Amino acid sequence: MSQARNEAITQETKKQIAEMEALGFYHTIELPNGEVLPGLLSVERLRNRLTQFAIPADLRGKRVLDIGAWDGFYTFEMERRGAHVVALDLFRNEKFLLARDLVKSKAEYVVGDICRLSSKDLGRFDIVLFFGVLYHLKHPLLALENVCSMTADTAYVESYVIDNPADLNAIPIMEFYERTELRGQFDNWVGPNVTCLLAMARTAGFAEVQFESVLSSRAHVTCRRKWSTTPGSDTAPEIICVENSISRDHSFSTTRDDYISIYFRSATPGIQCDDVYAEVGPYAVRPGEVVGVGVDGWLAVCKLPPGLDAQWHALRLRVRKSQWSNTVRVPVDVAVEDQGGTGSEQLEVNVVTDGKTWERGRIKVGAGSCLSLWARGVPDGCDVQEVLVLLNGMNLPAVYVSAADAKGFKQVNATLPSGLPPGKFKLRLECADNISAPVEVELIK
Ligand SMILES: C[S@@+](CC[C@H](N)C(=O)[O-])C[C@H]1O[C@@H](n2cnc3c(N)ncnc32)[C@H](O)[C@@H]1O
Repeated sequence: MSQARNEAITQETKKQIAEMEALGFYHTIELPNGEVLPGLLSVERLRNRLTQFAIPADLRGKRVLDIGAWDGFYTFEMERRGAHVVALDLFRNEKFLLARDLVKSKAEYVVGDICRLSSKDLGRFDIVLFFGVLYHLKHPLLALENVCSMTADTAYVESYVIDNPADLNAIPIMEFYERTELRGQFDNWVGPNVTCLLAMARTAGFAEVQFESVLSSRAHVTCRRKWSTTPGSDTAPEIICVENSISRDHSFSTTRDDYISIYFRSATPGIQCDDVYAEVGPYAVRPGEVVGVGVDGWLAVCKLPPGLDAQWHALRLRVRKSQWSNTVRVPVDVAVEDQGGTGSEQLEVNVVTDGKTWERGRIKVGAGSCLSLWARGVPDGCDVQEVLVLLNGMNLPAVYVSAADAKGFKQVNATLPSGLPPGKFKLRLECADNISAPVEVELIK
């Protein structure tokens, strides 16, 4: 940014601050009796921002979070549409509190920093407004992850951007302002271009990120946590196994920046990130990387969606116009000792072998590794979707369940992630709310 332009903007900022101090408010607030509290931003300008997004007119029964609420125009507007609103701001703004009284609003007011708050603090919201805050933050990506964790459905993001008009083919870049380079304000820290803003929203965990517009160097972006498309009728992919992309085990935590490697089979050629629609628990997740691993084999690497509850979550995916795959279960913030019960007498694992060499109790790990077990007590009708083969609590996808033999044993085959380390593991079988006692197996190279 040139010195002359920066100087001109700084003068403009000074003029705006003086004007706002004279008026008292940043937002113009409309009162129920038809009067207005005049502010720097006119009602037309404030409303014009809302029209950049498809925010529903009827928000009855919805929970909305307004981050960086300032004087509360958007808080009161969401409330007018029927929502229960929580307004969050970094400081206690007496103007907001005055306006809230005059508007007779029931909005909750929380003073806090979006870089330090997540769904664990404030819960989840159907809709989150994140207007005019991102460029004020030293940790914009961390803040977007927190926004994502609190968004159950849709976040509407508005931010200063450095390209006007937007260049959707530009390399993502972000300016960093150590001092007062942006408009003479020390609390303006970053200026992303539009592609950088979109990339950060995706990286934070939003599954669908839609560019809406740029007006006066302000970008408007809609960020969704659910897929807006539905499954087609093409052949479903098959999930082979799932593992933590870094530790290559089966533990996942919301307190780390965890990624899930999903190995799956699909005959669809040339699969790219935008072709894969994965879901973990209630949230859609878009892979950051998809690579071919063999004839029909694929690996999709996805961020663990922010804001998941501590429990087992169902994971499935579809590709382009396919049906949903099989479902596997992923433990999130579940302690290993909680990943299996005490064992039931009705369900008994008798023999475990390598699925290829049939060696008893010893399973060779590596690409294509699988095991076979024979168990008594597996109810009829319990198929591969319903039996869980748990290795130290890790859910191995079952690929085959036989009919019972003369002694009532059924054979169950399951595949193992390629990256498992050698060593002794405890194997359990779970189905129909029963879990077997553990059986020790050894993984070998
Ligand atoms: C430019 S104003 C935007 C106000 C309003 N959202 C709008 O778009 O008109 C920035 C607001 O974000 C708040 N803010 C700045 N940093 C914040 C943070 N780390 N956490 C929460 N709010 C923050 C400021 O106090 C201020 O109210």
